[in-house]
Amino acid sequence: MSHFKGILLAGGKGTRLYPVTQVASKQLQPIYNKPMIYYPLTTLLVAGVREVLIISSPEDIGRFESLLGDGRRWGISLQYAVQPEPKGIAQALQIGREFIGNDSVFLMLGDNLIYGRLDFLRAAMASNGDGATVFAYHVHNPGEYGVVEFGPDGKARSLEEKPKIPKSNWAVPGLYLYGPGAAAEADRVTPSARGELEITDLNRRFLDRGHLTVMPMGRGIAWLDTGTPESLLEASNFVHTLETRQGLFVGSPEEAAFHMGFLDQVGLAACVAATPDGPYRAYLQRILDGASRDQAMGLRG
Ligand code: DAU
Repeated sequence: MSHFKGILLAGGKGTRLYPVTQVASKQLQPIYNKPMIYYPLTTLLVAGVREVLIISSPEDIGRFESLLGDGRRWGISLQYAVQPEPKGIAQALQIGREFIGNDSVFLMLGDNLIYGRLDFLRAAMASNGDGATVFAYHVHNPGEYGVVEFGPDGKARSLEEKPKIPKSNWAVPGLYLYGPGAAAEADRVTPSARGELEITDLNRRFLDRGHLTVMPMGRGIAWLDTGTPESLLEASNFVHTLETRQGLFVGSPEEAAFHMGFLDQVGLAACVAATPDGPYRAYLQRILDGASRDQAMGLRG
């Protein structure tokens, strides 16, 4: 499998959440008990990506850096770049050109939350090669998203951004995989009527050449939106319900890094020590205690 770097796009104006977003961007707002950006960051870690570029507006980029740091405490590398104006999701690839270098890239929107067994992500990364892979998720309101239509052979036939009359119920979530050269391909996209480099236009270029894989996400996966006050509340309730029932956190980068082996027990203990007293620290302590117990029983290396 080619090496994947990650880009988290966390800019934009968040106008639908105003006044919540007046002084800090949408992706810094809480989903239940964690900042929104924790969830997609955790997804990238679980997918095995440990070098991530975070892109945000000039006003907010420093806030992300204060929140997340350089990633070393989690055994990962976090870098930061500014998007001066929200000129389209595909622009993230151009901004990240040097960071990506000759690697593949996993671009994820900082306001997308997915939950469930994520093995399919690693499978998609392993088979992506030089092309692009996007996902498809069945929704009742496809017109609010990028929409993919499948032909009778099960292959993607068309891709449209927020169509008035959607050709299917399959929305394209904000997770995109590209082989090397994605920034150069983004250079070939012409700005849309609203002056943005549309991610759907970029993906259509891959589709037209037969280089786009579209993988439907099964019903066992939850993909949640967080753009409006209602969807933000629903996402918070969703996380609250799961965490209360299971006693396991959703979207903890420390836990994901530990699980992936980016962070050892000493590193996790340091994270616990650096976390103020409260439920989040208590949770990390429980993970650490569980690991020590497993080790004592010979269940863990
Ligand atoms: O959530 C998935 C959907 O995301 C896809 O189905 C659509 O194809 C895709 O266009 C996008 O639709 P949205 O309506 O959600 O796009 P929006 O402009 O709201 O941007 C999504 C996030 O990316 C948002 O949190 C802000 C951020 N963003 C967006 C743009 C255009 C940036 O940071 N910079 C940008 O230039």
